[in-house]
Amino acid sequence: MTKTLTILGIESSCDDTAAAVVRQRAGNLASVLSSVVFDQNELHAAFGGVVPEIAARAHVEKLDIVVEQALSKAGVILNDLDAIAVTAGPGLIGGVLAGVMCAKGLAAATGLPLIGVNHLAGHALTPRLTDNIEFPYLVLLVSGGHCQFLTAAGPDQFTRLGGTIDDAPGEAFDKIARLLELGQPGGPRVEAQATTGDPTRFKFPRPLLNREGCDFSFSGLKTAVRRTIDTLRAEKSGVTQQDRADICASFQAAVTDVMVEKSRRALAMFSKAHTPQSRHFAVAGGVAANASIRAALKNLCASSEFNLVAPPLEFCTDNGAMIAWAGLEMFRTGHRDSMALAARARWPLDRASTPMLGSGKKGAKA
Ligand code: KG4
Ligand code: ZN
Repeated sequence: MTKTLTILGIESSCDDTAAAVVRQRAGNLASVLSSVVFDQNELHAAFGGVVPEIAARAHVEKLDIVVEQALSKAGVILNDLDAIAVTAGPGLIGGVLAGVMCAKGLAAATGLPLIGVNHLAGHALTPRLTDNIEFPYLVLLVSGGHCQFLTAAGPDQFTRLGGTIDDAPGEAFDKIARLLELGQPGGPRVEAQATTGDPTRFKFPRPLLNREGCDFSFSGLKTAVRRTIDTLRAEKSGVTQQDRADICASFQAAVTDVMVEKSRRALAMFSKAHTPQSRHFAVAGGVAANASIRAALKNLCASSEFNLVAPPLEFCTDNGAMIAWAGLEMFRTGHRDSMALAARARWPLDRASTPMLGSGKKGAKA
């Protein structure tokens, strides 16, 4: 590593418009000079989910603003940058396209190199930005559109060990929140309710535990929760505040149990394939912001002699810093994209594995 690099990262693949500036001086840890995120929660609230067309238009309106703010908060101008990194997929195509066009415009105007980043690589590489861990490591990527275990061996070298066969866990959190009329995004709201609930009151299923390997399934769990809510409404003519809290706590306990058991198996697979020195297990993506899941995985790691790396919450959910960082890692390997860079709705990280089934919030479970 020879040169100080300063990279602008742009993210617009779902419902957050984000930009950030990350700088790494030779031989030093990288620092996030700025990270600006505009969420679109209010715009989609009335629809109970992300509306792709509304999301794309909102990105177009906000992209210039987040970029300007990220540069000014970082105290840099375009001339100080070494490259412009942008999410080029996977995601909602209108939003991805808006980000890619914005980045191309900046690259054309300044002559700076353009780097198209896989959104999932952004999440999966974040533990190297926040905790400076070495390759290879195991990462559990859990968000609103994705759920997979990956071995990360390099900035563009990922192997999938398992993943969801239907829904993503964030989607399940969002669905439960909708059924209980808690508002969106569901994850933090379900988590808040769960703090006052009884996690043992409802015995929700722990799907796929009897199947070997580390694949997940969340659709049966969602259905079980919906049935419970329907039964409570039919039998008691409504769901009380305590019912709500108990449902959230019981649901979160089921998700946590499944994640712990599948992680135990993935850690065993990873340990078998890699040197004993590689003892890092990272969690990334929005669902990794959940305190109860983080605590349970930390316990698992303590008993398996692994080190759990869980980035700060602002870098778990979608942000520009993860894109700037992934772009920086790719830039150091010599990667550059041309003006032909395409926006992609689907873009699997592990190109050798067969695509997972299902369609998440982003419309893809690459
Ligand atoms: O990574 P992210 O910001 O966007 C995607 O790439 O999908 O993840 C958003 C997802 C949403 O489904 C949200 O409900 C979930 O992450 N989430 C959480 C929590 N915070 C966000 N799920 C559970 N507990 C949380 N505290
Ligand atoms: Zn994400």
